[in-house]
Amino acid sequence: MASVNIPVPPFDLVVFGATGDLASRKILPALYRRFEAGQMPADGRIIGAARTKLSRAAFRKQVGAILGEYAADAPAERVKAFLNCLDYVVLDARGEDGWDKLAASLRADAVRAFYLSVGPSLFGPIARRLERFGMAVDGARIVVEKPFGHDLASAEALNAELRQCFAERQIYRIDHYLGKETVQNLMALRFANALFEPLWNCQHIDHVQITVAEDLGVAGRGEYYDRAGAMRDMVQNHLMQLLCLTAMEPPSRFEPDAVRDEKLKVIRALDPVPPGDIVRGQYRAGAGGPAYGDEAGNPDSRTESFVALKLHISNWRWSGTPFYLRTGKRLRQRLSEIAIIFRDPPHSIFPKMQNRRGNALIIRLQPDEGITLRMTIKEPGPGGMRLTEVPLDMTFAEALGEDAKSPEAYERLIMDVIRGDQTLFMRGDEVEAAWEWIGPAISDWAEGTQKPATYDSGGSGPEDALMLMHRDGRRWRGIGE
Ligand code: BG6
Repeated sequence: MASVNIPVPPFDLVVFGATGDLASRKILPALYRRFEAGQMPADGRIIGAARTKLSRAAFRKQVGAILGEYAADAPAERVKAFLNCLDYVVLDARGEDGWDKLAASLRADAVRAFYLSVGPSLFGPIARRLERFGMAVDGARIVVEKPFGHDLASAEALNAELRQCFAERQIYRIDHYLGKETVQNLMALRFANALFEPLWNCQHIDHVQITVAEDLGVAGRGEYYDRAGAMRDMVQNHLMQLLCLTAMEPPSRFEPDAVRDEKLKVIRALDPVPPGDIVRGQYRAGAGGPAYGDEAGNPDSRTESFVALKLHISNWRWSGTPFYLRTGKRLRQRLSEIAIIFRDPPHSIFPKMQNRRGNALIIRLQPDEGITLRMTIKEPGPGGMRLTEVPLDMTFAEALGEDAKSPEAYERLIMDVIRGDQTLFMRGDEVEAAWEWIGPAISDWAEGTQKPATYDSGGSGPEDALMLMHRDGRRWRGIGE
């Protein structure tokens, strides 16, 4: 099995904020990887645009150094060839300087994409200048990053600002979780196999657990994170996307709006979460570093670095099947998975079935992407009919070898922008619906005075999160056990 590069047309990709953190860590290394893989065409051009005064040569040198760090194995002559595709324009996002020069540098016959790797307060000013200086032509695309708003009102305002200059079909809102290989695989698993779909409903599934655990704390990002918290930083976007892909109806076609319509229906079918079904936590000091408040530079912080919640989707497919979501920083291990826990057989003919955990399908996103199906079998050998549980395990790396080396999410997503495929990007109404749904919870916290419960660094979250499941007679899967 060989990976296939779908060719992309010649393009001019303008990266605003090209000297910033995200561009250095993710965007430029991802573009280099696509260049190395032969997908980026020889006449693909990347134009860095930022306030920092740099010459083209100095920008190339800077990117060369970045690749030395983030793509250390890259052969020198390939890096050199890649750097030749780079250009740089000094530009004032809120002023007039540099815009004429940028407009003059764009080719009429190449795909135009503008990647806004900048804070959301600059989305509007940049979009307006792109339009004013004649760059927002019909086929142009604009790419924006999260955080897409802070609440429903700010997300609506951002959408309105962007839509004044670009049509929805030109706007690409990135949620990098959608670029992860296993997240896309979730759609293949559900809709390209006949095996699971008949069971994929409340009659056969007891509950679903979605976990995104991180071992690192918020060091270096405390200022942003303390204003956001786990609910805004992870649940409103990444976990919501995982939930949607797990719960949505099969779209009639694998096409952007068909897929996004189905995801939107899931968000709109979510019941409001009662306060008793949400648990918030903050990590204590431990081997990984200081306590959350100290690390975030706000010792009295009421922001959550962990959140667990139970939610219900009000539709025929999921009535009565809860979805439990949890995400947090400084937990035992970096681990993301979706666990589908099936109901027990309707009648047991075996006497010792009580301690079984039952069938489960685990879709692992990271660290080692793969799928596990937990089965009950007879324990081999004499001694009566003894049952045991075994995993039917498939790690993609083992099953598919080299080809399982997943490209970074950004590689896939940026190439999709150039190809003009919006399937893996969030539509404006989807983002707004997600904010609308989490809105009541976050505004209650803003008004309240209660601090989140604390939890051990390197553990699996606060005690109350365990209780959220225990009281329903269920339990979380272990993190890193
Ligand atoms: C980002 C969040 O969107 O996703 C971070 O802002 C988080 O707080 C990160 O650490 C997790 O992404 P990944 O790909 O490492 O799971």
